[in-house]
Amino acid sequence: MSSTALWHPFADMHEVKNSQFCVTKAEGSWIYDDAGRGYLDGTASLWYANVGHGRAEIVEAAAAQMRELESYFVFNDFTNPPAEALATRLSEWAPIEDAKVFFTTGGGEAIDTAAKLARQYWSQRGKPQRTNILSRGNAYHGTNGMGTGIGGIEANRSGFGTLVPETARVAHDDAESLRSAIESIGADNIAAFFAEPVMGAGGLYPPEPGYLEAVAKICAEHDILFVADSVICGFGRVGGWLGVERWGLQPDMIAFAKGVTSGYLPLGGVVVSGKVAEPFWEEPGHPFRHGATYSGHPTVAAAAMANLDILEREQLPSRADALEKPLHEALTAVADHPAVAEVRGGVGLLGAVELTPEMLADGALPRLQKKIRELGVIVRPLGKALAVSPPLIVTEEEIGLIGKAFREGLDEL
Ligand SMILES: Cc1ncc(COP(=O)(O)O)c(C=O)c1O
Repeated sequence: MSSTALWHPFADMHEVKNSQFCVTKAEGSWIYDDAGRGYLDGTASLWYANVGHGRAEIVEAAAAQMRELESYFVFNDFTNPPAEALATRLSEWAPIEDAKVFFTTGGGEAIDTAAKLARQYWSQRGKPQRTNILSRGNAYHGTNGMGTGIGGIEANRSGFGTLVPETARVAHDDAESLRSAIESIGADNIAAFFAEPVMGAGGLYPPEPGYLEAVAKICAEHDILFVADSVICGFGRVGGWLGVERWGLQPDMIAFAKGVTSGYLPLGGVVVSGKVAEPFWEEPGHPFRHGATYSGHPTVAAAAMANLDILEREQLPSRADALEKPLHEALTAVADHPAVAEVRGGVGLLGAVELTPEMLADGALPRLQKKIRELGVIVRPLGKALAVSPPLIVTEEEIGLIGKAFREGLDEL
């Protein structure tokens, strides 16, 4: 008899069914287990608690909205004030001309939305053969249909039968690999190229200098839609609002989620350029036959607005800018440890420590994660590394605790 009926995502339930880690409370950058012990939330939960935990202002905004209008759909001509306000705010923040905003309930749905929209855009433009979607090896775009199909982490793709057809992966760090793929598939058969600005779940890879600018240029040269997956990078994590500003990118679409509400309620969406929206918005008879029941949910939108108020008022994107170096330094302090192969980071409040092949073969990654948790810091195994992405309110002192826990955990290994 197992002790739980809860099936955990991505978990080996054979092991987890009898060894769960129960979180019961959280405040600021700290979470608490069912025995009342505190842990520094070194990962901002799943990369999303940008404003930190326990913000009463967001709770009050959601409760007030629920008293007024808890929920109503936005299909057809229906709308509601919080969804309108949030769409306006995001469209004004995005570095995209005449932007429109399509809401979903999470990042994976945002990716499905952007991929379907890219294909249908070309169909409306009289080029229905432009269906191929390119993405990067090691990419993570969620676990929905499209996100699984264009994802680049092989383990996440296998055993599911035939995935979405007409997709291809290119090397994650080499813009020339995109150019070669375009030459072999033919630009006129390609709808879009998807890229995370900083690759997250694939192991935390900041872009090589010039890479994002180069792929954006290649896409523009070949009239291929450039879609930024800013699900992790948005809302201050790498500085600007939509996760693309520091590279001067102006994507055709930006997928977002996570930090838009800091996770207080589930929300995602796509900021769509005026160019991509045009055939749907400016020509009659072309509805985009796509959408989720809770798209434009007013309570979720009200929570997002309160969260964005905090991010703006406390200037948390600038704070992330200021803290990216201290975080990187805290991690590079263990780069000389014999169990460490590489430390990555320095772009946004994101970092990772990769273990040597020998340590990985010995199954050290989950052991190290648990050791560091026993030392009071939450970190996450990703690929060959342990990753960190603390709330943007984290202090330098707390960043010091992350570095210290890595050092002690590695020594104990
Ligand atoms: C870059 C990226 N895209 C998409 C997703 C999927 O988002 P969700 O889990 O909300 O479906 C994630 C989730 O971590 C992500 O990191």
